Amino acid sequence: QSALRGVVALDGPSGTGKSTVARRLASALGAAYLDTGAMYRAITLAALRVRAAVSDAEAVAHAARSAELVMGTDPVHPTVTLAGEGVEHDIRGPAVTGSVSAVSAIPAVRELLVDEQRRLIRQAVKQSGGIVVEGRDIGTVVAPEAGLKVYLTASAHARAQRRTAQDAAAGRGTDLERTHADVRRRDDLDSGRAVSPLRMADDSVELDTTELDVAGALTQLHKLVEQRGLLA
Ligand code: DC
Repeated sequence: QSALRGVVALDGPSGTGKSTVARRLASALGAAYLDTGAMYRAITLAALRVRAAVSDAEAVAHAARSAELVMGTDPVHPTVTLAGEGVEHDIRGPAVTGSVSAVSAIPAVRELLVDEQRRLIRQAVKQSGGIVVEGRDIGTVVAPEAGLKVYLTASAHARAQRRTAQDAAAGRGTDLERTHADVRRRDDLDSGRAVSPLRMADDSVELDTTELDVAGALTQLHKLVEQRGLLA
């Protein structure tokens, strides 16, 4: 049984340290964990594999419906499988990263994934009592009933620096200037799209991680969880 009761929604753009803190928070509380960005990435990979053009909403929606996507919700070993094959590595590659904004803007894809996210959340709450869910629209659309909604922010510069450090650690080439431009381009795409644009829920707490490290962000999150009475 988890020390967390209910749902914690962590939203915000990439490079805010969202995935790291979401996983660690879930681990520390013995709760389940769901990375919804990984789901959009997996569907993007499935679409690329069947050579669907990402500009062809109908073809991508078809690929999404045919994809046998299974998400594992253990924060220590979060798994993403397509028809039984682990794709955790492939969904972080440049091909998927370059196309995922377009795929996640397709209404039929969002409908399908939001339904699946709600099912996984219900299941986790029933089984273990609590789940930490990270994404862009968790507090606004997927789980507006969440007991705690946090919106993580950080300056574009700080986020570009973190992405560059991640790329270096993963053995990929780095270019801070380009990464900075890319971060801003993705921000614009994600906040400017017609369906579920990235925005803060009215009742969410903003946590700026520009000057906070992972431990600092976790301390704040633990406090908020306690203040909201979400500890079992
Ligand atoms: O967090 P990430 O970089 O893995 O997310 C990948 C993409 O998916 C990103 O372009 C935003 C999109 N996304 C979304 O539209 N809604 C979510 N709940 C999560 C991610």
